[in-house]
Amino acid sequence: MTSRSISHIIEPQLVIEGAGVLLKRSISPRASNNYDPFLLFDHFAFNNPLEGPSRGFPTHPHRGIETVTYMLEGSVNHRDSLGNTGKIGSGDVQWMTSGRGILHEEMPRRGESGNIYGFQLWVNLPAAQKMSQPRYREVSAGSIPIVEKDGATIRLVAGEVDGIRGPVTEITASPLYMDVKLAPASKFILPIPSGHTVLAYVFNGAGEFSGEVVESVSMAVFNDDGDQVEVKTDAGVQFMLIAGAPFKEPIVPYGPFVMNTVEEIQQTIAELQNGTFIRQ
Ligand code: CO
Repeated sequence: MTSRSISHIIEPQLVIEGAGVLLKRSISPRASNNYDPFLLFDHFAFNNPLEGPSRGFPTHPHRGIETVTYMLEGSVNHRDSLGNTGKIGSGDVQWMTSGRGILHEEMPRRGESGNIYGFQLWVNLPAAQKMSQPRYREVSAGSIPIVEKDGATIRLVAGEVDGIRGPVTEITASPLYMDVKLAPASKFILPIPSGHTVLAYVFNGAGEFSGEVVESVSMAVFNDDGDQVEVKTDAGVQFMLIAGAPFKEPIVPYGPFVMNTVEEIQQTIAELQNGTFIRQ
């Protein structure tokens, strides 16, 4: 087995989205599609009391992508154009497949600790599924398996580790998505299919990823030069491990839409303007 080396490390940039929500953003949709099938990774960590509690992401559309929300502290209240409504609580995951279109609002709320801490990942959909029926997977904290492996405590959202499968299945990108907490003085090795894109978002502590030190908070991007990921730590580290099969299709991102052609983006905007974007 060969460990994949690090290609580069991304320092998240502070951005303001929605109605003035401060986020740490590592990647965002670009035509270059360098992290195919992954499009965006945002980190919600806005605990400044000066930021109003009512701020969030008022009603906005999505088409052609999946949005994956994972909360560690606090929660996100959501509702959408199809009549779905609910709360993504601490430890919960929502895997939303927008398909041909939804309009939704996402309103983060502080938890008992007073904090809001979580992540949103965007996963692309292949051309054949961009106009599919919208679909939700609500995964409660209690239904996410915890795998103990060589000093690692893994909350497994999607993919397989040691024969245990995460609850989110049947996603075209064959994603691996998990929260990995490594104890001090431990080493973690995980096989990854060659050809799959691999990212690690380090948000606590620091570790050596294939010999290269990666400190929180940053995203490590791996080369496709091996069949496993290897992480060592002295003082402990926690990261989201994100892997998936690229679609290798051209993409045209436009705000909350990611399609394959400019014509499809124009069509999307026209539908929003003439009221045919949402079809029950
Ligand atoms: Co959204």
